[in-house]
Amino acid sequence: MWLVKFLLVLSLFYQVSCVFEKFYCNILQSCDCEFRPNIRDLEWDLYKNVYGQHLAQDIVSEEVGRFLENKSPDRPLVLSFHGSSGTGKTLVSSMLANHLYGSAMNSPYVHQFIPTLHFPVPQQVKKYQEELKSWVQGNLTECARSIFIFDEMEKMPPGLIDVLEPFLGPSHVVFRTNYRKAIYIFISTAGEEVINKAALENRQAGRDREEIKLADLQKDIEQTLYNNNTSGFFQSRIIQQNLVTCFVPFLPLSRRHVERCVHSQLCQQGSCGRSDVVEAVGGNMIYSPIQGQYFSTTGCKAVPAKINFFL
Ligand SMILES: *[C@@H]1O[C@H](CO)[C@@H](O)[C@H](O)[C@H]1NC(C)=O
Ligand SMILES: *[C@@H]1O[C@H](CO)[C@@H](O)[C@H](O)[C@H]1NC(C)=O
Ligand SMILES: *[C@@H]1O[C@H](CO)[C@@H](O)[C@H](O)[C@H]1NC(C)=O
Repeated sequence: MWLVKFLLVLSLFYQVSCVFEKFYCNILQSCDCEFRPNIRDLEWDLYKNVYGQHLAQDIVSEEVGRFLENKSPDRPLVLSFHGSSGTGKTLVSSMLANHLYGSAMNSPYVHQFIPTLHFPVPQQVKKYQEELKSWVQGNLTECARSIFIFDEMEKMPPGLIDVLEPFLGPSHVVFRTNYRKAIYIFISTAGEEVINKAALENRQAGRDREEIKLADLQKDIEQTLYNNNTSGFFQSRIIQQNLVTCFVPFLPLSRRHVERCVHSQLCQQGSCGRSDVVEAVGGNMIYSPIQGQYFSTTGCKAVPAKINFFL
């Protein structure tokens, strides 16, 4: 009999201590899951391993650094990555996850959504909205520092993403948690025409790539997203209310950048010295426009397959 009592008391004690811990975390906001940000490593990785993206490198390291310095941000960090495929958008998003939560995409606090997988049927937007909202809310209750990555936004059914509006702003909607510490990353090819056009004009004018400024692109990307029904942000309130902290352009890559990708991949495979393969893969890409052949149409995307072919 005393054993049963003893166990009862023990389990009661355990429950109370859990409740107390949650209470304590909410008050002090100091139990941030396994959040272990390392900004210095993030910057190093960005500047060393992402090629040809001065805007993305600067913006991501600045915005993330500033956001994490603030112990009680008044709104979450919302970054939207844009550019053609193979320019490094997914690479940068996984670097972020990697340096904020040691275990990258495998962390239980990094959530990735892929429309073709999670939201495949456009007719079911209503159902998906309910699901997405309850997931995000549930995830934030478990961990205020959650990271949400939305890949392939151009395939997102129009209207779905607006369900996140209350989570993204500084509004006073109160959930049980501090939802302002979250990080949201949107990834899409939408806006690539605007970005590629700016890069082409810059190149044709014989200017340095680094002279392309964020201010030249920001508004145009935003407008394209808002007006295009395959951007994921068609007539979105998230755009209307300026809830995206920054639109991050990824520029098209030229041959020298592609060759750096090849070289770095080769080194990872222990074949640093094979400059013949670097040359062969670089020469095997398709470059556009026909007049000038400035930019690789697939960025660094096809590099691993081509290395296997030429190695
Ligand atoms: C968190 O989000 C995932 C989807 O990434 C979902 O499957 C899971 O149920 C959510 N967790 C909670 C507690 O809602
Ligand atoms: C919307 O974007 C797609 C993909 O970028 C493009 O092909 C299409 O022409 C755009 N539509 C309009 C109306 O601008
Ligand atoms: C998107 O816009 C284009 C042209 O503006 C239109 O032809 C098309 O039907 C629209 N698609 C959807 C899914 O609304």
